[in-house]
Amino acid sequence: MNNVFDYAAACLHRTEVDEKLRLTAEAWQLYQQGELKFDSLSASFGIEHVCFPEKPELLAPRFMARRKLGTPEGVQAFYHALAHIEFIAIYLAWDILYRFRDLPQEFYQDWLRVAQEDAVHFNLIRSHLRTLGIDYGDLPAHQGLWEHAQDTAHDLLARLAIIPRCMEARGLDVTPGMIEKIRILKDGAGVKILQRILEDEQQHVAIGSKWFNQQCQAQAQAQALEPVATFRKMILKYFKNNKPKGPFNVEMRLKAGFTAKELAWLAE
Ligand SMILES: [Fe+2]
Ligand SMILES: [Fe+2]
Repeated sequence: MNNVFDYAAACLHRTEVDEKLRLTAEAWQLYQQGELKFDSLSASFGIEHVCFPEKPELLAPRFMARRKLGTPEGVQAFYHALAHIEFIAIYLAWDILYRFRDLPQEFYQDWLRVAQEDAVHFNLIRSHLRTLGIDYGDLPAHQGLWEHAQDTAHDLLARLAIIPRCMEARGLDVTPGMIEKIRILKDGAGVKILQRILEDEQQHVAIGSKWFNQQCQAQAQAQALEPVATFRKMILKYFKNNKPKGPFNVEMRLKAGFTAKELAWLAE
């Protein structure tokens, strides 16, 4: 295998966790060696064909155990939830790469990098989870994370507005607080992992901002899309007239490509 879309298809359609990680690392290595092809030869399958592992069991949020950090079980649940977020992030990166074709090669290179980095994040948290006596899949996980991907499978602008610029941007807002909480637990290894993730995630959001603005421009000839108005429209549509909740990490969001206008509207 040496085509990025074949790697994406394999990562989306095979269920084994380790196989997915191995393939992601292999694709990244081939890319680093200049041997990965980006020709879109194969057609994409619908998002309903994406497969998830048997474990973790996916539950609606109301059935999930509380993740209060005061008990060992709470700490396990906390890291398990983070592992699941990173695991779904690997899917989200491969899915945007796989589903939306005929874009500049740089688009595919950017999302391959995101898939690779989220796989690294997953591995870091999974190793930490194992030191706490459990593995990824031993606890149930939040079912909702994939729904926004399904909702936006037909619309790249919507996908970029909702996944990197809402879901991943949320990580920039809440991770500094999480780091402070686990620092209090004297979990130095955990602090280091979360700091590394926070730094990388700012780049992932920035990649989302870059392609969101690029797409607004590319479509402007036809429809006159103004980025701030378009972002607002996408949020109101896919959040069903709600907005992402603050408080927002203004400093990191500005570095990640949000404009002052967008942030002012979010905070309104
Ligand atoms: Fe990540
Ligand atoms: Fe990410």
